[in-house]
Amino acid sequence: MTECSGKVALVTGAGSGIGAACARRLASAGAQVVLTDRHPDGVKEVAAQIERDGGAAIALEADVTDPDAIERAVQAAVGTFGRLDLAVNNAGITAGREPVGTTPAEDWQRVLDVNLSGVFYSMRAEIAAMLHGDGGSIINMASVFGTVGFAGSAPYVAAKHGVIGLTKTAALEYATRRIRVNAVAPGFVDTPLLHVDGRRQRGAALMAPINRLGTAEEVAEVVVFLLSDRASLVTGSVYLADGGLSAR
Ligand SMILES: NC(=O)c1ccc[n+]([C@@H]2O[C@H](COP(=O)([O-])OP(=O)(O)OC[C@H]3O[C@@H](n4cnc5c(N)ncnc54)[C@H](O)[C@@H]3O)[C@@H](O)[C@H]2O)c1
Repeated sequence: MTECSGKVALVTGAGSGIGAACARRLASAGAQVVLTDRHPDGVKEVAAQIERDGGAAIALEADVTDPDAIERAVQAAVGTFGRLDLAVNNAGITAGREPVGTTPAEDWQRVLDVNLSGVFYSMRAEIAAMLHGDGGSIINMASVFGTVGFAGSAPYVAAKHGVIGLTKTAALEYATRRIRVNAVAPGFVDTPLLHVDGRRQRGAALMAPINRLGTAEEVAEVVVFLLSDRASLVTGSVYLADGGLSAR
């Protein structure tokens, strides 16, 4: 399938899990892909795999909490491939499980910095580049916990609700300027994010009605559909990919 042929895509947090799956799926759909992550090893490996499979990809080290690093990554995308059309703002972290009353301020700040400010800095740089081109399509990685609460994860839940507000606002601002902005809200997906010290956390206890965890590849399918012109009418929306978790 080559629905993204001729398009240039940037993915943050592309060295692992959902971001890596999105980068691979975008490449298989014909996009030239810029993979960014705060850890260089994962993105180098995924980019090399894409190239071995006949795709075009570059790997860059960029921390989404550093606005200058993100600007440089977007400039590198334009410098290398000539344009930026698609973006997946996916980098994200979790913190320890604590109720609000005992959540450390540093956990709050760290999660907000990566999961919310990181999306803002990324979108700001991407939109500037897209306005210079032919417009574009952006996916912000939210979570089902951007739509409902989850006891013990206040920073994560607050940040993901923020991502959805940011997504809707940017969609309104750029709707007439050919930039679509949507959020994807996965439920529990089997990635390293769910594992601590080699053991799966949370996911097993909160299984979705489909009775299994999602896969990163299943999320990537939704992402690439929304990025593609097949979703030309879709902007400002939140697409749940949670196996029915929030339908209960
Ligand atoms: N796995 C799930 O169950 C699940 C569910 C809902 C939403 N999500 C969201 O999906 C996104 C990807 O999660 P995942 O499950 O693939 O996790 P993951 O841990 O496998 O991958 C996250 C990637 O983001 C990178 N990253 C972290 N902080 C960064 C920073 N400051 N700058 C740049 N890169 C950074 C990590 O190095 C890693 O490569 C996150 O936003 C997460 O909140 C995951």
